[in-house]
Amino acid sequence: MNFFWFISENFLETLDIADAGADVFRVPDYNMRSRVCAHNDRWFCFKERLVENLKEKLAQALNAAKSLEAVEKIRVDFLGRKGSITTLAKNTDFATMTAEAKKEFGQKLNELKNFAQERIAAALAAVQASNVHHKSNDLDLTAPGKGRRLGALHPITLAQMELEDIFQGMGFSVLYGPEVESEYFCFEALNIPHDHPARDMQDTFWLKNQLILRTHTSANQVRTLLRFGAPIRAIFPGRCFRYESVDPSHENTFYQCEGLVVDKDISVANLIAVMKTILSQVFKRDVKVRLRPGYFPFVEPGFELDLNCLLCGGKGCSTCGDGWIELIPCGLIHPEVLRHGGIDPKEYSGFAFGVGLTRLAMMKFGIRDIRYLNCGDLRVNEQFTTLV
Ligand code: DAH
Repeated sequence: MNFFWFISENFLETLDIADAGADVFRVPDYNMRSRVCAHNDRWFCFKERLVENLKEKLAQALNAAKSLEAVEKIRVDFLGRKGSITTLAKNTDFATMTAEAKKEFGQKLNELKNFAQERIAAALAAVQASNVHHKSNDLDLTAPGKGRRLGALHPITLAQMELEDIFQGMGFSVLYGPEVESEYFCFEALNIPHDHPARDMQDTFWLKNQLILRTHTSANQVRTLLRFGAPIRAIFPGRCFRYESVDPSHENTFYQCEGLVVDKDISVANLIAVMKTILSQVFKRDVKVRLRPGYFPFVEPGFELDLNCLLCGGKGCSTCGDGWIELIPCGLIHPEVLRHGGIDPKEYSGFAFGVGLTRLAMMKFGIRDIRYLNCGDLRVNEQFTTLV
Protein backbone atom coordinates (compact mmCIF):
# COMPACT_ATOMS: atom_id res chain seq x y z
CA MET A 1 0.00 0.00 0.00
CA ASN A 2 1.35 3.42 -0.96
CA PHE A 3 0.86 6.70 0.79
CA PHE A 4 1.00 10.03 -0.94
CA TRP A 5 2.21 13.05 0.79
CA PHE A 6 2.29 16.41 -0.93
CA ILE A 7 5.09 18.53 0.27
CA SER A 8 6.86 21.51 -1.21
CA GLU A 9 10.51 21.35 -2.15
CA ASN A 10 11.02 24.48 -0.24
CA PHE A 11 9.52 22.98 2.80
CA LEU A 12 11.76 19.94 2.64
CA GLU A 13 14.70 22.29 2.49
CA THR A 14 13.59 24.24 5.49
CA LEU A 15 13.36 20.95 7.32
CA ASP A 16 16.88 20.24 6.38
CA ILE A 17 16.15 16.67 5.51
CA ALA A 18 17.80 16.35 2.17
CA ASP A 19 18.67 12.86 3.18
CA ALA A 20 15.01 12.10 3.65
CA GLY A 21 15.26 10.97 0.05
CA ALA A 22 16.73 7.84 1.31
CA ASP A 23 13.32 6.96 2.55
CA VAL A 24 11.01 8.64 0.12
CA PHE A 25 10.58 9.23 -3.57
CA ARG A 26 10.11 12.76 -4.77
CA VAL A 27 7.83 13.09 -7.74
CA PRO A 28 7.35 16.50 -9.50
CA ASP A 29 3.82 17.65 -8.95
CA TYR A 30 1.58 19.74 -11.22
CA ASN A 31 1.38 22.61 -8.76
CA MET A 32 5.10 22.91 -8.29
CA ARG A 33 5.22 20.60 -5.35
CA SER A 34 6.90 17.33 -4.98
CA ARG A 35 4.74 14.41 -4.36
CA VAL A 36 6.43 12.41 -1.73
CA CYS A 37 5.58 8.82 -1.98
CA ALA A 38 6.79 6.19 0.33
CA HIS A 39 6.08 2.70 1.11
CA ASN A 40 4.18 2.00 4.24
CA ASP A 41 7.00 1.42 6.71
CA ARG A 42 9.28 3.91 5.03
CA TRP A 43 6.59 6.49 5.15
CA PHE A 44 6.20 6.08 8.86
CA CYS A 45 9.89 6.33 9.33
CA PHE A 46 10.01 9.53 7.27
CA LYS A 47 7.06 11.05 9.11
CA GLU A 48 8.65 10.37 12.47
CA ARG A 49 11.79 12.08 11.33
CA LEU A 50 9.95 15.04 9.94
CA VAL A 51 8.11 15.64 13.15
CA GLU A 52 11.19 15.16 15.32
CA ASN A 53 13.16 17.39 13.04
CA LEU A 54 10.57 20.15 13.28
CA LYS A 55 10.57 19.88 17.07
CA GLU A 56 14.34 20.18 17.20
CA LYS A 57 14.37 23.16 14.87
CA LEU A 58 11.72 24.90 16.90
CA ALA A 59 13.56 24.30 20.17
CA GLN A 60 16.82 25.59 18.72
CA ALA A 61 15.19 28.67 17.30
CA LEU A 62 13.44 29.45 20.56
CA ASN A 63 16.62 29.01 22.57
CA ALA A 64 18.26 31.66 20.48
CA ALA A 65 15.28 34.06 20.62
CA LYS A 66 15.89 36.85 23.12
CA SER A 67 13.15 39.29 22.22
CA LEU A 68 9.37 39.27 21.88
CA GLU A 69 9.76 40.02 18.16
CA ALA A 70 12.09 37.03 17.67
CA VAL A 71 9.64 34.68 19.40
CA GLU A 72 6.77 36.08 17.34
CA LYS A 73 8.71 35.49 14.12
CA ILE A 74 9.28 31.87 15.16
CA ARG A 75 5.57 31.51 15.85
CA VAL A 76 4.76 32.75 12.36
CA ASP A 77 7.46 30.51 10.81
CA PHE A 78 6.08 27.42 12.44
CA LEU A 79 2.42 27.98 13.17
CA GLY A 80 1.49 30.86 10.85
CA ARG A 81 -0.70 30.35 7.78
CA LYS A 82 2.34 29.44 5.74
CA GLY A 83 4.40 28.08 8.62
CA SER A 84 6.14 24.72 8.54
CA ILE A 85 3.75 22.87 10.77
CA THR A 86 0.67 24.29 9.05
CA THR A 87 2.12 23.40 5.68
CA LEU A 88 2.96 19.90 6.81
CA ALA A 89 -0.65 19.42 7.92
CA LYS A 90 -2.09 21.02 4.80
CA ASN A 91 -0.01 19.02 2.42
CA THR A 92 -0.62 15.68 3.98
CA ASP A 93 -2.84 13.68 1.71
CA PHE A 94 -5.01 12.09 4.35
CA ALA A 95 -7.41 10.78 1.68
CA THR A 96 -4.88 8.24 0.55
CA MET A 97 -4.05 6.88 3.96
CA THR A 98 -5.42 3.90 5.76
CA ALA A 99 -7.64 4.65 8.71
CA GLU A 100 -4.92 3.47 11.03
CA ALA A 101 -2.23 5.65 9.45
CA LYS A 102 -4.58 8.62 9.35
CA LYS A 103 -5.21 8.27 13.04
CA GLU A 104 -1.60 7.84 13.97
CA PHE A 105 -0.31 10.69 11.88
CA GLY A 106 -3.21 12.92 12.88
CA GLN A 107 -2.20 12.38 16.48
CA LYS A 108 1.43 13.10 15.70
CA LEU A 109 0.47 16.34 14.00
CA ASN A 110 -1.64 17.41 16.96
CA GLU A 111 1.14 16.62 19.37
CA LEU A 112 3.52 18.61 17.26
CA LYS A 113 1.17 21.60 17.20
CA ASN A 114 0.63 21.45 20.96
CA PHE A 115 4.33 21.08 21.56
CA ALA A 116 5.00 24.16 19.43
CA GLN A 117 2.28 26.22 21.10
CA GLU A 118 3.48 25.34 24.59
CA ARG A 119 7.12 25.99 23.84
CA ILE A 120 6.35 29.32 22.18
CA ALA A 121 4.16 30.41 25.09
CA ALA A 122 6.89 29.44 27.56
CA ALA A 123 9.50 31.32 25.52
CA LEU A 124 7.24 34.40 25.43
CA ALA A 125 6.77 34.30 29.19
CA ALA A 126 10.51 33.89 29.73
CA VAL A 127 11.33 36.84 27.48
CA GLN A 128 8.67 38.97 29.18
CA ALA A 129 9.95 38.10 32.65
CA SER A 130 13.51 38.89 31.72
CA ASN A 131 12.36 42.19 30.17
CA VAL A 132 10.72 43.20 33.44
CA HIS A 133 13.85 42.24 35.25
CA HIS A 134 15.99 44.34 32.95
CA LYS A 135 13.80 47.37 33.37
CA SER A 136 14.00 47.36 37.14
CA ASN A 137 16.84 45.53 38.75
CA ASP A 138 15.40 46.25 42.20
CA LEU A 139 12.26 44.34 41.48
CA ASP A 140 12.33 40.95 43.10
CA LEU A 141 9.56 38.92 41.53
CA THR A 142 9.92 36.24 44.15
CA ALA A 143 9.46 38.61 47.09
CA PRO A 144 6.24 38.10 49.10
CA GLY A 145 3.53 40.72 48.53
CA LYS A 146 2.87 43.56 50.94
CA GLY A 147 -0.09 42.86 53.21
CA ARG A 148 -2.90 45.42 53.10
CA ARG A 149 -4.47 46.58 56.33
CA LEU A 150 -8.15 45.81 56.44
CA GLY A 151 -10.38 48.70 57.39
CA ALA A 152 -13.09 48.30 60.00
CA LEU A 153 -16.17 50.15 61.08
CA HIS A 154 -15.91 52.07 64.31
CA PRO A 155 -17.54 50.30 67.27
CA ILE A 156 -20.01 53.19 67.66
CA THR A 157 -20.98 52.85 63.98
CA LEU A 158 -21.50 49.14 64.51
CA ALA A 159 -23.69 49.79 67.55
CA GLN A 160 -25.60 52.50 65.65
CA MET A 161 -26.22 50.27 62.63
CA GLU A 162 -27.53 47.53 64.85
CA LEU A 163 -29.78 49.89 66.77
CA GLU A 164 -31.16 51.31 63.53
CA ASP A 165 -31.96 47.80 62.33
CA ILE A 166 -33.77 46.91 65.53
CA PHE A 167 -35.82 50.11 65.56
CA GLN A 168 -36.63 49.84 61.88
CA GLY A 169 -37.87 46.35 62.58
CA MET A 170 -40.34 47.95 65.00
CA GLY A 171 -41.60 50.43 62.44
CA PHE A 172 -39.42 53.41 63.38
CA SER A 173 -38.02 55.78 60.76
CA VAL A 174 -34.34 56.70 61.03
CA LEU A 175 -33.74 60.45 60.65
CA TYR A 176 -30.60 62.58 60.94
CA GLY A 177 -30.64 66.18 62.11
CA PRO A 178 -27.89 68.83 61.95
CA GLU A 179 -24.92 68.84 64.30
CA VAL A 180 -24.78 72.63 64.12
CA GLU A 181 -28.10 73.50 65.64
CA SER A 182 -30.09 76.58 66.58
CA GLU A 183 -30.43 77.47 70.22
CA TYR A 184 -34.18 77.30 69.73
CA PHE A 185 -34.44 73.61 68.76
CA CYS A 186 -31.77 72.59 71.23
CA PHE A 187 -33.26 74.42 74.22
CA GLU A 188 -36.30 76.71 73.93
CA ALA A 189 -38.47 74.34 71.93
CA LEU A 190 -37.69 71.70 74.54
CA ASN A 191 -38.99 73.80 77.38
CA ILE A 192 -35.55 75.01 78.45
CA PRO A 193 -35.74 78.82 78.36
CA HIS A 194 -32.71 81.12 78.54
CA ASP A 195 -32.74 81.64 82.24
CA HIS A 196 -33.71 78.08 83.12
CA PRO A 197 -31.23 76.37 85.46
CA ALA A 198 -31.48 73.23 83.30
CA ARG A 199 -29.28 75.03 80.76
CA ASP A 200 -26.41 74.58 83.16
CA MET A 201 -26.75 70.80 82.84
CA GLN A 202 -25.35 70.98 79.37
CA ASP A 203 -22.15 72.96 78.91
CA THR A 204 -22.37 74.20 75.39
CA PHE A 205 -19.99 75.03 72.55
CA TRP A 206 -21.27 78.33 71.21
CA LEU A 207 -20.78 79.36 67.61
CA LYS A 208 -21.64 82.71 65.99
CA ASN A 209 -25.22 83.78 65.13
CA GLN A 210 -26.91 81.96 68.01
CA LEU A 211 -25.79 78.65 66.59
CA ILE A 212 -24.37 75.92 68.77
CA LEU A 213 -22.95 72.42 68.49
CA ARG A 214 -25.96 70.41 69.56
CA THR A 215 -25.64 69.16 73.10
CA HIS A 216 -28.17 66.35 72.60
CA THR A 217 -30.08 64.64 69.80
CA SER A 218 -33.34 65.72 71.51
CA ALA A 219 -32.94 68.82 69.34
CA ASN A 220 -34.55 66.71 66.59
CA GLN A 221 -37.84 66.34 68.45
CA VAL A 222 -39.56 69.60 67.53
CA ARG A 223 -37.86 69.81 64.13
CA THR A 224 -39.43 66.47 63.28
CA LEU A 225 -42.88 67.20 64.70
CA LEU A 226 -43.03 70.43 62.70
CA ARG A 227 -41.96 68.66 59.55
CA PHE A 228 -43.87 65.37 59.74
CA GLY A 229 -46.65 65.91 62.31
CA ALA A 230 -48.32 63.04 64.18
CA PRO A 231 -48.56 60.08 64.38
CA ILE A 232 -44.85 59.38 64.16
CA ARG A 233 -42.25 56.85 65.29
CA ALA A 234 -38.65 57.83 64.65
CA ILE A 235 -35.12 57.63 65.99
CA PHE A 236 -32.33 60.19 65.50
CA PRO A 237 -28.84 58.80 65.97
CA GLY A 238 -25.95 61.26 65.90
CA ARG A 239 -22.99 63.07 67.36
CA CYS A 240 -23.32 65.53 70.21
CA PHE A 241 -20.90 67.91 71.87
CA ARG A 242 -20.46 69.26 75.37
CA TYR A 243 -17.78 71.28 77.01
CA GLU A 244 -16.81 68.52 79.42
CA SER A 245 -13.59 67.56 81.11
CA VAL A 246 -12.58 64.18 79.76
CA ASP A 247 -12.26 61.05 81.91
CA PRO A 248 -12.88 57.29 81.38
CA SER A 249 -16.63 57.88 81.11
CA HIS A 250 -16.90 61.48 79.81
CA GLU A 251 -15.97 62.94 76.44
CA ASN A 252 -16.60 66.30 74.80
CA THR A 253 -17.78 64.45 71.68
CA PHE A 254 -20.13 61.51 72.02
CA TYR A 255 -23.07 59.81 70.34
CA GLN A 256 -26.70 59.61 71.30
CA CYS A 257 -29.75 58.09 69.71
CA GLU A 258 -32.92 60.03 70.41
CA GLY A 259 -36.25 58.31 69.92
CA LEU A 260 -39.76 59.61 69.66
CA VAL A 261 -43.24 58.12 69.46
CA VAL A 262 -46.31 60.34 69.14
CA ASP A 263 -49.73 58.84 68.66
CA LYS A 264 -53.10 58.62 70.33
CA ASP A 265 -53.22 57.13 73.86
CA ILE A 266 -49.48 56.62 74.32
CA SER A 267 -48.60 55.84 77.94
CA VAL A 268 -45.67 54.90 80.18
CA ALA A 269 -46.61 51.24 79.58
CA ASN A 270 -45.77 51.67 75.87
CA LEU A 271 -42.50 53.33 76.78
CA ILE A 272 -41.42 50.50 79.08
CA ALA A 273 -42.44 47.80 76.60
CA VAL A 274 -40.42 49.37 73.78
CA MET A 275 -37.35 49.94 75.96
CA LYS A 276 -37.37 46.34 77.22
CA THR A 277 -37.73 44.90 73.73
CA ILE A 278 -34.92 47.04 72.36
CA LEU A 279 -32.42 46.28 75.11
CA SER A 280 -33.00 42.55 75.04
CA GLN A 281 -32.29 42.59 71.29
CA VAL A 282 -29.23 44.80 71.63
CA PHE A 283 -27.54 42.70 74.30
CA LYS A 284 -28.94 39.37 73.08
CA ARG A 285 -29.46 38.26 76.67
CA ASP A 286 -31.55 39.09 79.67
CA VAL A 287 -30.47 42.41 81.09
CA LYS A 288 -31.37 43.96 84.39
CA VAL A 289 -32.77 47.48 84.28
CA ARG A 290 -34.18 49.86 86.81
CA LEU A 291 -36.36 52.95 86.46
CA ARG A 292 -35.77 55.98 88.63
CA PRO A 293 -37.60 59.26 88.48
CA GLY A 294 -35.55 61.79 86.53
CA TYR A 295 -35.95 65.42 85.73
CA PHE A 296 -35.81 66.69 82.16
CA PRO A 297 -37.77 69.80 81.23
CA PHE A 298 -39.13 68.27 78.02
CA VAL A 299 -40.76 65.16 79.54
CA GLU A 300 -43.35 64.74 82.23
CA PRO A 301 -43.09 62.36 83.99
CA GLY A 302 -39.38 61.79 83.37
CA PHE A 303 -37.30 58.70 84.18
CA GLU A 304 -33.79 57.39 84.26
CA LEU A 305 -33.56 53.87 82.92
CA ASP A 306 -30.38 52.29 84.28
CA LEU A 307 -28.73 49.14 83.02
CA ASN A 308 -27.04 46.70 85.34
CA CYS A 309 -23.36 46.95 84.35
CA LEU A 310 -22.38 44.15 81.96
CA LEU A 311 -18.66 44.65 82.61
CA CYS A 312 -18.65 43.98 86.32
CA GLY A 313 -22.01 42.23 86.68
CA GLY A 314 -23.26 44.96 88.97
CA LYS A 315 -20.46 44.81 91.52
CA GLY A 316 -19.15 48.26 90.65
CA CYS A 317 -16.17 49.20 88.50
CA SER A 318 -14.35 52.27 87.12
CA THR A 319 -16.81 52.51 84.22
CA CYS A 320 -20.09 52.27 86.10
CA GLY A 321 -19.16 53.24 89.63
CA ASP A 322 -21.96 51.64 91.62
CA GLY A 323 -22.89 48.73 89.33
CA TRP A 324 -25.48 50.63 87.29
CA ILE A 325 -25.00 52.45 84.02
CA GLU A 326 -27.23 55.40 83.36
CA LEU A 327 -28.33 54.39 79.87
CA ILE A 328 -31.72 55.68 78.78
CA PRO A 329 -33.29 58.82 80.15
CA CYS A 330 -36.86 58.93 78.98
CA GLY A 331 -40.39 60.10 79.71
CA LEU A 332 -43.70 61.20 78.31
CA ILE A 333 -43.32 64.20 76.03
CA HIS A 334 -44.21 67.45 77.79
CA PRO A 335 -47.44 69.06 76.42
CA GLU A 336 -45.52 72.28 75.85
CA VAL A 337 -43.05 70.48 73.54
CA LEU A 338 -45.92 68.94 71.57
CA ARG A 339 -47.37 72.41 71.19
CA HIS A 340 -44.02 73.76 69.90
CA GLY A 341 -44.20 70.97 67.33
CA GLY A 342 -47.68 72.01 66.24
CA ILE A 343 -49.36 68.99 67.87
CA ASP A 344 -52.45 69.29 70.05
CA PRO A 345 -51.62 67.61 73.41
CA LYS A 346 -55.31 66.93 74.00
CA GLU A 347 -55.40 64.75 70.92
CA TYR A 348 -51.94 63.19 70.98
CA SER A 349 -49.45 62.02 73.55
CA GLY A 350 -46.04 60.46 73.19
CA PHE A 351 -42.81 59.34 74.76
CA ALA A 352 -39.21 60.20 74.08
CA PHE A 353 -35.93 58.63 75.06
CA GLY A 354 -32.25 59.39 74.62
CA VAL A 355 -30.03 56.32 74.27
CA GLY A 356 -26.40 56.97 75.13
CA LEU A 357 -25.02 55.39 71.98
CA THR A 358 -21.40 55.75 73.05
CA ARG A 359 -22.15 54.13 76.39
CA LEU A 360 -24.09 51.39 74.64
CA ALA A 361 -21.13 50.58 72.37
CA MET A 362 -18.82 50.48 75.40
CA MET A 363 -21.13 48.06 77.16
CA LYS A 364 -21.63 45.93 74.12
CA PHE A 365 -17.96 45.55 73.21
CA GLY A 366 -16.48 45.71 76.71
CA ILE A 367 -14.62 48.99 76.15
CA ARG A 368 -13.59 50.33 79.56
CA ASP A 369 -12.43 53.81 78.65
CA ILE A 370 -14.46 56.22 76.51
CA ARG A 371 -11.24 57.93 75.38
CA TYR A 372 -10.33 54.98 73.15
CA LEU A 373 -13.28 55.81 70.93
CA ASN A 374 -12.14 59.22 69.77
CA CYS A 375 -8.39 58.75 69.93
CA GLY A 376 -8.03 57.90 66.24
CA ASP A 377 -5.77 54.95 66.98
CA LEU A 378 -6.39 52.36 64.26
CA ARG A 379 -5.51 49.58 66.66
CA VAL A 380 -8.87 50.21 68.31
CA ASN A 381 -10.85 49.82 65.10
CA GLU A 382 -8.80 46.88 63.86
CA GLN A 383 -10.16 44.80 66.70
CA PHE A 384 -13.59 45.00 65.08
CA THR A 385 -12.76 43.92 61.51
CA THR A 386 -14.42 40.57 61.94
CA LEU A 387 -17.70 42.14 62.97
CA VAL A 388 -18.31 43.99 59.72
N1 DAH B 1 -31.44 64.91 75.90
C1 DAH B 1 -31.15 64.40 77.19
C2 DAH B 1 -29.66 64.55 77.48
O1 DAH B 1 -28.90 64.55 76.60
C3 DAH B 1 -31.52 62.99 77.30
C4 DAH B 1 -32.98 62.74 77.31
C5 DAH B 1 -33.67 62.74 78.49
C6 DAH B 1 -33.64 62.48 76.13
C7 DAH B 1 -35.00 62.47 78.53
C8 DAH B 1 -35.00 62.22 76.16
C9 DAH B 1 -35.69 62.21 77.38
O2 DAH B 1 -35.70 61.97 75.06
O3 DAH B 1 -36.99 61.93 77.39
O4 DAH B 1 -29.30 64.63 78.63
